[in-house]
Amino acid sequence: MAVSDLPLGTTILTGLIAVLVYGLNKMIQQRRFYKDFPTPPHSFLWGHLNLMGEIMGFLPSARKYDMPGVFYLDLWPASCGQVVVTDPDVAMQMTVTRNFPKHEIESWFIDPPIGPGNIVTTNGPRWKYLHKIMRPMVAAKVMKFRSIVHKKVDSGEAFRLEELTQHLTFDIATLSDNIDLSEKRGLGIMYLILREHLDEMRQSKKQELDAKFLQDAITQVKTLLIAGTRTTSDTICFGAMLLSVHPEIIQRMREEHNRVFTPGTDATYELLTADPYKLKELTYTTNVIKEVLRFYPIGNIVREGVESITYQGREWPTKGLMICPVQMTVHMDPKIFPNQLKFDPDRYTREDFPHHAWRPFERGPRACLGQPLAIEELMITFLLITRDFDFTCANLKPNKTPRVGWTDLDLTFGDRAFQEFVFEANSRNGMLMTVKESNWSS
Ligand code: HEM
Repeated sequence: MAVSDLPLGTTILTGLIAVLVYGLNKMIQQRRFYKDFPTPPHSFLWGHLNLMGEIMGFLPSARKYDMPGVFYLDLWPASCGQVVVTDPDVAMQMTVTRNFPKHEIESWFIDPPIGPGNIVTTNGPRWKYLHKIMRPMVAAKVMKFRSIVHKKVDSGEAFRLEELTQHLTFDIATLSDNIDLSEKRGLGIMYLILREHLDEMRQSKKQELDAKFLQDAITQVKTLLIAGTRTTSDTICFGAMLLSVHPEIIQRMREEHNRVFTPGTDATYELLTADPYKLKELTYTTNVIKEVLRFYPIGNIVREGVESITYQGREWPTKGLMICPVQMTVHMDPKIFPNQLKFDPDRYTREDFPHHAWRPFERGPRACLGQPLAIEELMITFLLITRDFDFTCANLKPNKTPRVGWTDLDLTFGDRAFQEFVFEANSRNGMLMTVKESNWSS
């Protein structure tokens, strides 16, 4: 008898049973896969889906379930499974030694607002091409930022620091004129993309810019705006927040700024303009910035598992899974960063410091393209701001007991100490501050 001869009800029922049997079979296969691997408590019905809220909360320490440096999460049927990496050596394998490609899940979130074909989510030759043209750019408009801060001193009112720092980093990411610090590096991204395309047009004797190129150029500009604006401005905000309770660290930064440059911000600016490479001599300030980024690493990455990774002498499969190094967990691991809750810029000068464990920009060929720019922006900002101003957090509401197991900063700063992960990772409650002219004298 053909299926078309059966009553409709029987056909639907048979179809449903077939789907159910297929689903159950798939579920058994999926759930069985994880039985030989370390995972948090695993349910046959839910995998780890029922634990997702809790897992997001404990990931920064991965301590609650005492997970090793590589563990698995079963997220079927919502998505493919995840290999979570909290061991810095394994993170090096997947980003530096083997450079696993970006997982398509990044495109689902990042492409709609920016456009497909952006440098963050593409792989292969397209990524190589974009990487080549986008590398050479930097700029600085910190003196303008400084004059805005001065106005806040005059008014004495509380203001949201992130609104100021966003203007600064937006200017820097989009800048199209040649500016101050070094001719070679004062180029805007739009200019660089156009220049590359015009060279190609000249070689192929084309007369007009094509529409695809323009769309593409807009995508790349949007990418830099998103990747380069809030990330850096959030870091300045968290830096100001952390430093506001560490006058002894501010003191050492100020002394270094006078020693390496010269007393007086205007004179320092002149010197910086003449010799931007002097920034490299600010080793203590660099370590302060590193420590701010250890507490607030901002980015999260998802790679596609292509081959197994080696951990503790065993091969761990990753094919078909997402593989995610979790920077915050590494940064808050007391075995790697002893006394991990202490804001301690000097930890980076210790001989045994494991440099590869500091990963706010990730590492390897796909590490943040803007890292030198971001570090330079942060250095210049702290150099030109720290000696003249004292920032204080306004309207703090410290928590009475720590809200999470991996930081106690909320006992001082309240929920403002937590990052809100959307496209960037700004402070959950905004960064309300007051600022005074500093009475520090060298
Ligand atoms: C404190 C500031 C910043 C932090 C913490 C940060 C962090 C990151 C991270 C974690 C990645 C992903 C790396 C990977 O997938 O392995 C990334 C990628 C990227 N960042 Fe940043 N970033 C910052 C500032 C900037 C700035 C200022 C720019 C440019 C104006 C920028 C442009 C990019 C680009 C283009 C990529 C994609 C690189 C690629 O896939 O090849 N970032 N960033």
